[in-house]
Amino acid sequence: MSKIFISCALPYANGPCHLGHLRSTYIPADIYARYNRMKGNEVLLVCATDEHGTPIAVRAEQEGKEPKEIAERYHKMIKKDLESCNISLDSFTRTTDPIHYKMAQDFFLNLYEKGYIYEKSMEQLYCSNCERFLPDRYVEGICPYCGGKGARGDHCETCGRHLEPVQLVEPSCLICKSKPEVKESKQYFFKLSEFQDDLEEWIESNDKLPANVKNYARQWLKEGLRDWILTRDMEWGIPVPLKEAEGKIIYVWGEAFLGYISSAAQWAHKQNKSWRDYWNDRAIHFIGKDIIYHHSIFWPALLMAYGCKLPYTIIAGSYLSLEGRKMSTSKNWVIWVSDFVQNFDSDLLRYYLVANAPLNRDTDFSWDDFQRRVNDELADVLGNFLHRTFTFTKRFFEGRIPEPGAFDEFDKDFEKRIKQLPDVVSDHIEHFKFREGLIEIIKLAKFGNKYFNDKEPWKTVKSGSKEAATCLYLCNQLSKTLAVVLMPYLPVKTQEIFKILNLNAEEMVWDSASEFIPINHEIAKAKPIFSKIDDSVIEDQKKKLYENVEEEVEMKDIISIDDFAKMDLRVGSVVGAEKVKDSKNLLKLMVDIGAKKIQVVAGVAKKYSPEDMLNRRVIVLVNLEPAKLFGIKSEGMILATDDNMSLLTAEGADIGEQIK
Ligand code: 2FM
Ligand code: ZN
Repeated sequence: MSKIFISCALPYANGPCHLGHLRSTYIPADIYARYNRMKGNEVLLVCATDEHGTPIAVRAEQEGKEPKEIAERYHKMIKKDLESCNISLDSFTRTTDPIHYKMAQDFFLNLYEKGYIYEKSMEQLYCSNCERFLPDRYVEGICPYCGGKGARGDHCETCGRHLEPVQLVEPSCLICKSKPEVKESKQYFFKLSEFQDDLEEWIESNDKLPANVKNYARQWLKEGLRDWILTRDMEWGIPVPLKEAEGKIIYVWGEAFLGYISSAAQWAHKQNKSWRDYWNDRAIHFIGKDIIYHHSIFWPALLMAYGCKLPYTIIAGSYLSLEGRKMSTSKNWVIWVSDFVQNFDSDLLRYYLVANAPLNRDTDFSWDDFQRRVNDELADVLGNFLHRTFTFTKRFFEGRIPEPGAFDEFDKDFEKRIKQLPDVVSDHIEHFKFREGLIEIIKLAKFGNKYFNDKEPWKTVKSGSKEAATCLYLCNQLSKTLAVVLMPYLPVKTQEIFKILNLNAEEMVWDSASEFIPINHEIAKAKPIFSKIDDSVIEDQKKKLYENVEEEVEMKDIISIDDFAKMDLRVGSVVGAEKVKDSKNLLKLMVDIGAKKIQVVAGVAKKYSPEDMLNRRVIVLVNLEPAKLFGIKSEGMILATDDNMSLLTAEGADIGEQIK
């Protein structure tokens, strides 16, 4: 028996949960936790709301409220959202709990005293109108890499890059809109660079870390780690526990991880147990892939500095889009959990989000596909198998598990598959392949339907032979096995199945999944477990989604053909290319566009070397207002894809040719 510490990434307390959160993090963590409890392992599943950071502070300021009030509101909502989907957290606390403050400050002091945290003066943006520094989201401007507007001080939504406030072009204070100045301020840095070798060793030698986590980590390690700024000049946050650091707080990412521990500690205190026993046996972090860097590089380095055991593994779920488009809470292109569960059982959502795609692949939520899977797989395959088994047993065997006759080859094969299913599913869940486990379950339910059809018990039951009894004996056994292995996936629906089977769900442990129900055991009255979703219900949901977003799309996303025609896109040939000093992302290119040569600064250096670029026929937006990037004039834009930075090229085309 093991003790397992399972954490779910801490949601920021600045909005409720949407389907993306559930898919990437909470449902997988819950399946894993429920499975392990059934295996007899001791599980501690923790989470908390992440209540500091500029998103909450800015929101509070905009709403004229205290940040704590905002955090409280969303803590309650998120708690309800998670409960509505039966995420079986043992502890759900807040990073504003006093115990969290103490743990975070002690952790900071420990590292400071060991010399892993040092002070350094650095340039920061300062708003003289508001009389304060402008960290992270307190400032907006143009992204220096891609020219995207509305980039925040910590991140550009357009190109996805991490930014420092001072890098922004044309910065402005988010609160008063005035132009900030650059001022020196002392901050505290964590010596992340010192852990380069140890982290490399940990990543490479750890065969438990999944490929997606390793690949991201390798990429950052290859670039070379830089020290991390660990403090901010702002009010909302955990004060830096040093006399000389008045007015400074610990950066939200410098304390949020401790939320895993402070949540566990509060649970342990109430239970009179030691959370350390769980952590030291096996700690597993479930996160979304956007925070792999933080969990595979930054957090392990902090733990090394502190002298604490590193996590056993990190499971990073990928993104969920909605009806083919990136989810956006600001554009209302989103499905909130609270809305969803008003209309559908949360188990249907759990099923769909797991069955839809492997956890490490980006995927899409579509209402039609949701309906299809529920109707075809849950209702037609699983529901139908269970219902026909139970109703037939009621009708022809007085609701009792019949005594089977001798098994023929088909029966034997069917019995073997039933007995094997728990191990097959278990192997997948233990390797975090939740979808694969679920697919095996549905596959066997499908096989069960075929077995039932081929055996034709409605005919044989009349002949007086034992064939129908054998068929129903095995079908009831499969029903029970299915219910047990589905428990981690569908915690509510499986209770209903056990009720009909007249078995105590509480007693169901994983290893009892293939134990057969005794002959003559009486089952209860059958009732359909899964019903089909009507087209009209789906139409309503789609209408609601599109209605809410319509205005936004018309105003922001749709352009006219005339707008498009304003863009002068040309085929250019790269005739000169060099790196931009001090930038890992930018290349300075000279591009021949036929009538003339122009200079373009392009953010593609992570993917292409200057040599790679030479002589390429690229697509250039040539009538873009010139801008300066890293002090270098850029007279156009080279087109490339967003995430991958793959260049758009037109190899056979003539130089200067226009794209229309
Ligand atoms: O990215 C986020 O949503 C963060 N609030 C996650 C924090 S996870 C951990 F560090 F606690
Ligand atoms: Zn200001």
